[in-house]
Amino acid sequence: MGKLDGKVALVTGAAAGIGLAAAQALVGEGAIVYLTDIEDERGAQAVAAITAGGGTAFYSSQDVREEAGWEDIIGRIKKDQGRLDILVNNAGIAIAGSITEMPLEAWQRQNAINIDGVFLGMKHAIPVMDLHESGSIINISSVAGLKGAPGLAGYSGSKGAVKLLTQSVAGECAADHKGVRVNSVHPGIIDTEIWSKMPNGIDPTEGLLANITPQDGANTVNPQDIGAVMAPVGYAGMPQDIANGIVFLASDDSRYMTGSALVIDGGLTA
Ligand SMILES: NC(=O)c1ccc[n+]([C@@H]2O[C@H](COP(=O)([O-])OP(=O)(O)OC[C@H]3O[C@@H](n4cnc5c(N)ncnc54)[C@H](O)[C@@H]3O)[C@@H](O)[C@H]2O)c1
Repeated sequence: MGKLDGKVALVTGAAAGIGLAAAQALVGEGAIVYLTDIEDERGAQAVAAITAGGGTAFYSSQDVREEAGWEDIIGRIKKDQGRLDILVNNAGIAIAGSITEMPLEAWQRQNAINIDGVFLGMKHAIPVMDLHESGSIINISSVAGLKGAPGLAGYSGSKGAVKLLTQSVAGECAADHKGVRVNSVHPGIIDTEIWSKMPNGIDPTEGLLANITPQDGANTVNPQDIGAVMAPVGYAGMPQDIANGIVFLASDDSRYMTGSALVIDGGLTA
């Protein structure tokens, strides 16, 4: 018996990192999980592995910036499963660099994925959750959404927006009395590829990441090196550490939590 037997979940950015670990953990508790991403080959491979392990999962290509894509995937889930219980708004990118050097295009792209994606997900999921009067929305913010992150100012602004958006929508849903809960998760330094994907031409070793020696090439930093310097526990967390919190927020174990900010950061903000 899993904690999420009979539940239907959608996880964005689920081809890798925290999203993939979250999808696997939700399946492990019995949920039917829809994984979406723009990395179609990896997403399909992830679903094949979950299915081979006896879980039920589906992959769909989805760019979280596009409203039509949200209508498609949520419409498909409603038609095929008749319900949507869990939405993990996980897709996100990080663009480093000082604010005076950040191209407007980079600022807007980051906000489109990190904020517009979360907005659109909630906009289209809540009406379906309202129909069966239950649901848990989990928005992945960051420790950079709790305190400033010099060198990652644009990212920090986008993640701070996710926190307050979460709290405001949680209040709206609570007032509706339809059982939809909305919480944010704030990971610290987690060992995923996000650290090596920071766009070329921007020095990620400025500000927040000062004193970190790039591993190979100016834009490739090892999250374990960053964790060793920045996290009081002395190491970076793993995607599973965040997935554990996501399962908790998805399940009825957290039934009295809404509008909360769950911090999983090895003491970084303590
Ligand atoms: N790794 C960390 O240290 C850390 C810390 C705090 C918060 N976070 C947040 O956790 C979330 C997951 O990050 P991760 O570390 O697993 O990174 P990741 O890069 O490993 O995974 C992110 C996934 O999102 C997908 N994605 C990117 N743009 C997309 C788009 N437009 N539409 C759909 N999918 C898209 C990517 O293809 C990728 O599979 C992000 O929101 C990130 O900001 C990560």
